[in-house]
Amino acid sequence: MINKASRDKSRRVGLGGQSEDEDTMRTLLRVCVCVCVCLAAAQDNLDYDDYEVVSYPAAVDARGHRPLTRGGDTYTRNRNVPPPISGGARYRGRPTPAPVGGQQPKEKERQPDEGGCMHAAEEMGVLCPSGCELKTMLLKQERNVKTGINELKPRVEDLSQASNSVYTYVTSMSTSLRERQRVVNGNNRVVIQYTDRVEEQHAYIKDTVDTTFPSTIRVLQGVLDKIRIKIQRLEMAIEAQKEECQEPCQTKCPIPVVSGKECEEIYRRGGTDSQMYLIQPDPFYPAYKVFCDQTTQNGGWLLIQNRLDGSVDFGRRWDEYRRGFGNTAFDVGKGHCETPGEQWLGNDRISQLTKMGPTEVLIEMEDWTGARVISMLIHSHLLPFFTYVLAVDGYSGNAGNSLLEGTYELFGENRTMTIHNGMMFSTYDRDHDNWNPGDPSKQCAREDGGGWWYNRCHSANPNGRYYMGGAYTRHMAKHGTDDGVVWMNWKGSWYSLKAMSMKIRPYFHMPG
Ligand SMILES: *[C@@H]1O[C@H](CO)[C@@H](O)[C@H](O)[C@H]1NC(C)=O
Repeated sequence: MINKASRDKSRRVGLGGQSEDEDTMRTLLRVCVCVCVCLAAAQDNLDYDDYEVVSYPAAVDARGHRPLTRGGDTYTRNRNVPPPISGGARYRGRPTPAPVGGQQPKEKERQPDEGGCMHAAEEMGVLCPSGCELKTMLLKQERNVKTGINELKPRVEDLSQASNSVYTYVTSMSTSLRERQRVVNGNNRVVIQYTDRVEEQHAYIKDTVDTTFPSTIRVLQGVLDKIRIKIQRLEMAIEAQKEECQEPCQTKCPIPVVSGKECEEIYRRGGTDSQMYLIQPDPFYPAYKVFCDQTTQNGGWLLIQNRLDGSVDFGRRWDEYRRGFGNTAFDVGKGHCETPGEQWLGNDRISQLTKMGPTEVLIEMEDWTGARVISMLIHSHLLPFFTYVLAVDGYSGNAGNSLLEGTYELFGENRTMTIHNGMMFSTYDRDHDNWNPGDPSKQCAREDGGGWWYNRCHSANPNGRYYMGGAYTRHMAKHGTDDGVVWMNWKGSWYSLKAMSMKIRPYFHMPG
């Protein structure tokens, strides 16, 4: 649009630059107008053809005026005396000149001295000599006038053409001006529409920014503040828990002065309270804390496994079972750690303790009604440590000899598959059981919840999942198997015991 306008402007400028042409054109126009005015003034003397010229002054096409082909020579025949030509610039004429000429009646010329001087009109008779002179003079003048007219004719013709060119040019200018006006109007309309849209959008955005955004931001800030407060509270709670936890777990339990290779030695040395003690079975290895039960069955029992509330996860990897995990003991306000926590002493330590000599094993269990049973065994001989093979014998007690005989519910080979004695230890990440060895999809430890001397798979599952309340179903179990804290020969597969512990003590054969 801008380009077009500037183009038009430059066109106008270009026209202005042709000022000489313009001046000439104006001069010609003026001459033309003068001629026309003069001719009009002399219209009394015009004949038919002259009138015709006057009656078509607005012919648009240059070819619209009388064609030159129609008796071109008649121009030279104009009888009328033209107005005096005293500088064309002072004439005023019409745009389209009215060239004089056309068919005129033939005049009969006579010589003044021919047969006496006659009046031009014969019926008026013979002129006097002075009249003859007048006629002669008039004839002379007529010749002059004719010459002038002849000179004027082409100029008038030129003027006519020029004026027609100017008219055409002006017309085309008007057309293009109208076109430009139309384009400008169209553009204005588009600009107005666009402006309206822009204003509308601006209003919407401004409204959004002014009202919606702030309210949204306020809401979000409120949410953020609430979350921040919650996080602060949680952090405070965590800190409080940490401090509460640290004290009884480790630091605040005073370690008794009495120590020994294991709990039996501590007992003999006077450590007769059941609590946490420091033992050092092997002088080449550092001492560590254990819970010693110095009251049950004459004391001297070292706790190697304990379940009582489900507070410790027993679904652990091989290395954790090897090193041990859980809480040795708690101080419940009596100044020493006399309450054992859920724990697994660790296969390395159990192995190291039991290799010192024949060992008694006491397994105690309690159901959710408070009933208790025990299983006493003797760990009699040593087997390679690497896979921690279970080797027990000499059962006594009232819980059922699960470890040696398997579950009483089954028979034959089916029962044999549930015997734990002689089995290697298995965890979910290290499979040593007898259920399709080498098949990773057939792993007792993966399905039954903890590390144990699984066969294919168990009659006892002391390290299984802790189910509150005892009875559970296969639908509650993660893999549909009896993965609870199970002792089948007492409560069956679908009862998870409330408490279970395993303790060891050096075995001294009492003859008799
Ligand atoms: C072992 O269990 C399978 C499947 O339950 C059963 O078909 C088979 O009779 C059992 N064998 C014995 C000796 O009970």
